[in-house]
Amino acid sequence: IPQLRVALLGCGVVGGHVAARLMASAEEFEGRVGARLNLVGIAVRDTSRPREAGVDSSLLTTDAESLVGKADIVIELMGGIEPARSLILRALESGASVVTANKALLAEHGAALRAAADDAGVQLEYEAAVAGAIPIVRPLGDSLAGDSVNRILGIVNGTTNYVLDKMDSSGLSQADAVASAQQLGFAEADPTADLEGYDAAAKAALLASLAFHTPVELSDVHREGITGITADAVANARADGYVIKLLTVCERVQSSSGPAIRSSVYPALLPTSHPLAGVRGAFNAVYVESEAAGELMFYGQGAGGAPTSSAVLGDVISVARRRLLGGRGQATPRAGSLRLLPMSEIRTR
Ligand code: HSE
Repeated sequence: IPQLRVALLGCGVVGGHVAARLMASAEEFEGRVGARLNLVGIAVRDTSRPREAGVDSSLLTTDAESLVGKADIVIELMGGIEPARSLILRALESGASVVTANKALLAEHGAALRAAADDAGVQLEYEAAVAGAIPIVRPLGDSLAGDSVNRILGIVNGTTNYVLDKMDSSGLSQADAVASAQQLGFAEADPTADLEGYDAAAKAALLASLAFHTPVELSDVHREGITGITADAVANARADGYVIKLLTVCERVQSSSGPAIRSSVYPALLPTSHPLAGVRGAFNAVYVESEAAGELMFYGQGAGGAPTSSAVLGDVISVARRRLLGGRGQATPRAGSLRLLPMSEIRTR
C-alpha cells in the first residue's frame, strides 16, 4: 500500500484533535484514500507543554523547516503570518500539498500562495479557514461555480455571536458576556480579533474571493466590530422585532464604473423572522443568494477543536487522493469496513 508522509505544523486546540484523529482513524482513512497517511512529525514551539490526549509526544519537534522538507502533505495550524507563510511556500515549492486553516494569512497573502501552489502543480486547501466545520469553501468555489452568486450573508465569528446572543437572552452587559465566552473557551484570552471584526473580515475576504472568482483581500473589506453595542441597544432591537448580529455581507453591486463587489462586516439589525436570526450561541451560518440555485443556507459549528478538525481532515483526504490519482482525485466509494444491511432487515416503522 502506498505511503504518504504528513507533517503537522502547530498542535493547539485544532492541531491536537487533528493529530489524535490521524492516529486513531489511520486504518479507516487508509481505506478511503488508498494510501497510508503517516504522521511523521508535529512542529511546536515548546515540546514540554501538555497536549491533547492521543497525541504521540515522540513526534513533537521544534524544527519546522526540516519537517516540511520531509513531507508529501503539510497541515499548517500554527496561525499568524510568519513563520506560517514561509513554511507554506517552502512546502509548496518542494512539491508538497498544503492544508491550512489560517484565514488571516490567506486574506493577506492568498493570491501569492495560490500562485505558488499552481506553479508547483500541487493543491492548497483551506476548508477550515471559514466557519470551522461547515463545508463552505468548496461549495462556493466549486459546487456553485456554474451559478452566479449575488449575495452572501454570514455569521462567521462564533465568539461575537455568542456574546450578542448572551446579551439578548440573559440581559448581560457586553463585558460579562465576553467573560462568559472566555470561560467556555470560545473567545481568545485577548478577544480583540473577534470583537473588532478582524476575524470575520478575513473570512469575508475569503468568501468574496470564492463566490465572485475575484481576489479580495482583508484591506478591501469594510469592518466594524461590536464593542459599541450595549445591552440597551440589544434589548431595544428585540422590542422592535430585531436581533443584532455581526454580519458578513459580500455582494454584487452597481457602481459608477460598472458592476463591483462590496464586502463588509458590521453589527446589523436582522428581523427575527430571518433564517440567520435563529443562529444562537457560538454557531455559524452562511446564507447564499444565487441566480440559479436560489437561496442556500449552510449551518454548523464554526470553531472548536473537534469540529474544525473535521474540515482539516476532509482536506487532507482530498489532497491525498489527488496525489495518488492525479486529476481523478474525487471521492468514489471504495471497499469499506461496513456491511450493508440486508433488505430483509430494513424496517421503516
Ligand atoms: N475566534 C473564532 C470564532 C474562531 O470565534 O469564530 C474560529 O475562527
